[in-house]
Amino acid sequence: MGDLRDLLENNRRWAEQVRVQDPGFFERLASIQTPRILWIGCSDSRVPANQITGQQPGEVFVHRNVANVVVHTDLNCLSAMQFAVDVLGVRHIIVCGHYGCGGVKAALEGQRLGLSDNWLRHVEDVRDTHAAALAGLSSDAARLDRLCELNVVEQVLHVAQTTVMRDAWARGQDVTVHGWIYALRDGRLRDLHVSAASADEAMSAYSAAVRGPAAQAGDEPATRARSGVNRARP
Ligand code: CO
Repeated sequence: MGDLRDLLENNRRWAEQVRVQDPGFFERLASIQTPRILWIGCSDSRVPANQITGQQPGEVFVHRNVANVVVHTDLNCLSAMQFAVDVLGVRHIIVCGHYGCGGVKAALEGQRLGLSDNWLRHVEDVRDTHAAALAGLSSDAARLDRLCELNVVEQVLHVAQTTVMRDAWARGQDVTVHGWIYALRDGRLRDLHVSAASADEAMSAYSAAVRGPAAQAGDEPATRARSGVNRARP
């Protein structure tokens, strides 16, 4: 794996470039981080939080896992959330899914991948909850798109139901949860319109989102019009 030397070399050049453009950059970041945003996204290599949102180091606190799932008892995700909300005081939590998610596709099709099947069982729960709505769609590509969206909508609700968020809202902290989805095909993010700044808002946003088509006019998901499914990528 001598190839990895490229990464270290790239890093050396990047750090030098940043230092030239902004001499105090690393010193500032070393002393404090004040991100406004917690990003909860998929581990998929094609959906890097900072890059697709044009954010610099220090601007986004990131938690990623396969299929961007928020599980009520996942201490890893809960700890990232608690640190971000209580210690860093982030103003926004963005749950970001993506169309063509390999984890969601495996859940939709009931594929066996291995150990991760147990993790993806949470996405199968989303699939089963919305089985009737999914069955009403005209193609497998449309079902995958919709399950990718519904998975985000469900995880946003899960974020809102954590003790972290309930406590933050109870003490009047200004923090809003959002659900976004990313299209690999055009590199664009779409708002699923489930933003909530309280538990009540989260519940009503959830109810509205699972009833109607989540994407708004002009935000037609790419794969709904043209099927193209990515295989075997988490
Ligand atoms: Co994914």
